[in-house]
Amino acid sequence: MSHNLLKGKRGIIFGALDENSIAWKTALRVKEEGGVFTLTNAPIAMRMGKINELAQACNDEIIPADATSEEDLNNLFAKSVEVLGSKLDFVLHSIVMSPNVRKNKSYGDLNYDWFLKTLDISGVSFHKVMQTAEKTDSLNEWASIVALTYIAAQRTFPDYSDMAQAKAVLESIARSYGYRLGKLKKVRVNTISQSPTKTTAGTGISGFDVFFDYANMMSPLGNASADDCANYIVSLFSDFTRMVTMQNLMHDGGFSSTGITEELIEKLTR
Ligand SMILES: NC(=O)c1ccc[n+]([C@@H]2O[C@H](COP(=O)([O-])OP(=O)(O)OC[C@H]3O[C@@H](n4cnc5c(N)ncnc54)[C@H](O)[C@@H]3O)[C@@H](O)[C@H]2O)c1
Repeated sequence: MSHNLLKGKRGIIFGALDENSIAWKTALRVKEEGGVFTLTNAPIAMRMGKINELAQACNDEIIPADATSEEDLNNLFAKSVEVLGSKLDFVLHSIVMSPNVRKNKSYGDLNYDWFLKTLDISGVSFHKVMQTAEKTDSLNEWASIVALTYIAAQRTFPDYSDMAQAKAVLESIARSYGYRLGKLKKVRVNTISQSPTKTTAGTGISGFDVFFDYANMMSPLGNASADDCANYIVSLFSDFTRMVTMQNLMHDGGFSSTGITEELIEKLTR
């Protein structure tokens, strides 16, 4: 159901690969709420994914950009402002990739070139996005910038490997750049720490099904779905959350505040 929460707002959505992607669900919800946007993803994902279908459904333009390339990002922000006809009110960073995870390297046998790539794609790219937005003067006052993260930034989940460090970098950048953009332009910057979600990135982590079920049992509300996450992102892009900034917001059905649950006790004592 639409409430026109984003009527008149314009933005950029990074990271829609296929219909399971959190960014895909978010694009559909933002559209429903009256927002308009450009879609972007890495050039290779354009070939592998289904982003064209989403662009057609939303009647929006795709502008390819590798989020680690300053040149691509400059082009993306300049073209987005041109296509949308004004500066931007929201940006979603929904990006993660670890060559070490993809190639099943154990944490004691990391390839360091790949580790740096993980940090660049999944963490530092968030800084590059905001620095580009600042330098190209692409943001309106009271714009809202959101990136997605995972609790492995604070607590160890062994199979999350070097992506845990990348998420810690991402969350720290949200605070530092959130301060800067708040002072400069009253722009807010937050990260959402989402429950395990069945997407390409999520299910690419070994043991995913086990920690999906574990998190579900450890959360009084159960795992938050990608659709729930899309709704939360819409609320953060809306004018109802203008004073929320520099936060890592837990969107996890209560997982992060729960010690143990009856379900787990029952399962472990059975
Ligand atoms: N799925 C989960 O369990 C889960 C849980 C918490 C947080 N998150 C976060 O949600 C976000 C979205 O992931 P998802 O679960 O929707 O999976 P997804 O695989 O659908 O999305 C990841 C996206 O990152 C993009 N990407 C990779 N390298 C890129 C690059 N160099 N430049 C631009 N884009 C690039 C991919 O093409 C893809 O679209 C990520 O930040 C992820 O860490 C996911």
